[in-house]
Amino acid sequence: MSETVAEKPAVNPKLASVEKVLSVHHYTDRLFKFRITRPQSFRFRSGEFVMIGLLQDGKPLLRAYSVASPNWDEELEFFSIKVPDGPLTSVLQKIQPGDDVLLGKKPTGTLVLDALTPGKRLYMFSTGTGFAPFASLMRDPETYEKFDEVIITHTCRQVNELAYSVEMAENLIKDPLIGEMAEGKLRHYTTCTREEHPHTGRITDLIESGKLFSDLGVPPLDPATDRAMICGSMEMIKDTAALLEKAGLTEGSNAQPAEFVIEKAFAG
Ligand code: A2P
Repeated sequence: MSETVAEKPAVNPKLASVEKVLSVHHYTDRLFKFRITRPQSFRFRSGEFVMIGLLQDGKPLLRAYSVASPNWDEELEFFSIKVPDGPLTSVLQKIQPGDDVLLGKKPTGTLVLDALTPGKRLYMFSTGTGFAPFASLMRDPETYEKFDEVIITHTCRQVNELAYSVEMAENLIKDPLIGEMAEGKLRHYTTCTREEHPHTGRITDLIESGKLFSDLGVPPLDPATDRAMICGSMEMIKDTAALLEKAGLTEGSNAQPAEFVIEKAFAG
């Protein structure tokens, strides 16, 4: 009689599931998006992040990624940087449709509508891949149910790095359902810091000088009406949050909703 030894699975099914890559699109040599299958049991709130990864030498290697698709979507979308020597993204950037990707089971995060108190105008300030959670929230009808105006800013070094958010905003307006809800409410404000573009400069400088508000034709930040979410590098978050606090807005969380929330854009 042969002896069977139960092999330990490489991925703990309590922590992650194995999903299939559906599509991959490369925007620049530093940025790409990919879509994967979504298990029926996978529930998340638009704006949350989850662990994503691959099996590397038989061991799971996972990193946090904001889900860029809204919670009603049947698939899951992610927007990623490619770090040449990044342990995960150097390999992940080579995925093809049909490949396996690991998906964590516990989405979480603070860039969620629940963490904000009611307001009139919602700002979403992003740099680089920090746009990803806002790609989710801008496609969620609840965003437009809760706010009269939704202003998404995206700042990148170069014009071609804005391609994902520009494509997203253009497609959204054409969407028969969400497009109608977003029409007249959604504003997409893009700026570049190292190339010519209709708007240039860091978002912090544009807030501080008031140019952002005059360009948009809206009043300066006001805690009575304005709510905000910030996603970018640690420095960008720190500097933007300081300006919001100076304007009288208070940082909130899931446990204690308030006037703005922050989250670091993930990379690696
Ligand atoms: P800059 O070109 O002036 O550094 P990165 O790729 O380094 O994360 O930068 C993405 C974008 O965020 C760039 O346009 C960059 O501008 C901008 N940025 C970097 N640091 C800050 C900061 N502390 N506050 C506001 N914007 C920032």
